[in-house]
Amino acid sequence: MAPTAYVQPIVDSTSVFKEDLFKGKVLFCTGGGSGICRGMTEAMMRHGANATIVGRKIERLQQTAKELSAATGQECLPAQADVRQPASLKEAVAKTIEKFGRIDFVICGAAGNFLAPISGLSENAFKTVLEIDTMGTYNTIKATIQHVRASKGAYIHVSATFHHNGTPYQAHVSAAKAGVDALSAVLAVEEGPHGVRSNVIAPGPIDGTEGMDRLAPKGIDTAQLHGGYPVGRQGDIKDIANATVFLFSNAASYITGQVLPVDGGSEHLRHQF
Ligand code: HXC
Repeated sequence: MAPTAYVQPIVDSTSVFKEDLFKGKVLFCTGGGSGICRGMTEAMMRHGANATIVGRKIERLQQTAKELSAATGQECLPAQADVRQPASLKEAVAKTIEKFGRIDFVICGAAGNFLAPISGLSENAFKTVLEIDTMGTYNTIKATIQHVRASKGAYIHVSATFHHNGTPYQAHVSAAKAGVDALSAVLAVEEGPHGVRSNVIAPGPIDGTEGMDRLAPKGIDTAQLHGGYPVGRQGDIKDIANATVFLFSNAASYITGQVLPVDGGSEHLRHQF
C-alpha cells in the first residue's frame, strides 16, 4: 500500500486502517477548507469516502477540493456557507444530496479563535465565537440530521481542551466549546436509538494550524507554553486524522457521547499563555 499523506507537509505518514473502509460513504465537513478539518477530510477520502467541504471562502474551498481529489482519487465538493447562517448550510446540504445522494458522516469543525482577556473582550467578540462554534454546530446538526439518520451515520465535533481547566484569554472559546461538548452528548443520547453516534475530538496543540498561529505568540517555545508534552512531541494533523478514521469506523460502534482528547496527554498539564 502506498504511504498515506493527510496533508501536503505530512508525506511520510502511513495509515493502519483498511484503504476502502469508507467506500460509498459521504462526509460533510464544516471548516474543511484548511487546517485540522482539511486533514480529517483527506483521511476520510483516502479511505474511500467522497466529501463536501464547507466554509466562507469559496476560492480556498475550490483549491482544497481540487488538491484533495487529486491526492485521493475521490470526489470533493466545495460548498460556500457560513455556519452562522442556517439557510446557507441547508443549501450546502442540498447540493451534497444532489451530487452524492447521501450523508453518512458529519464533522462540525468551523471555529473562531483569538487571544483576549475576559476583561477586554467585547460583547460582540464573545458572541461572535459562540455563534460560530456553538450555534454553528447546532445549525449544522439541524441541517444534516435527517440524512445522517437515514444512513445510520455519525458525527464528530471538533472541540478543545481549554475548558477542561480555566485557560486564560480563552473565555469565549471555553464557553463555546463547553456548549459544543454538551450538544454532542445530547445528540448521542437522543439519536442513539436511530443508529446515530456523536463524539467529540478535543485537539491539543497541533503543529502547522491557523489555531496554533493565533494562540502561540511568535518566538515562544510552544513546548514551554503548554507546560511540555508527556509524549515528547507536539501533535500534528495526522494525529487528529487517525482519531477521526477510528471514531467514524465500525471499530468505534459502541463509542458515543464521548470526548476524546488527542493532545499527547498535555491537558493534564496546566495551559499557560
Ligand atoms: C479581541 C477581537 C479579535 C481579537 C476579533 N475580535 N478579533 N477581539 N481580540 N484578536 C472582535 C472584533 O473586534 C469584533 O468585536 C468581534 O470580535 C467580531 O469580529 P469580526 O472580525 O467582525 O468577525 P468575523 O469577521 O465574523 O470573524 C470571526 C473571528 C475571526 C472569529 C473574529 O477571527 C475568524 O473569522 N476566525 C476564523 C478562523 C479561526 O479563528 N481559526 C482558528 C480556529 S482553530 P467588536 O466589539 O469590535 O465589534 C481553534 C483551535 C485552536 O480555535 C486549538 C489550538 C491548541
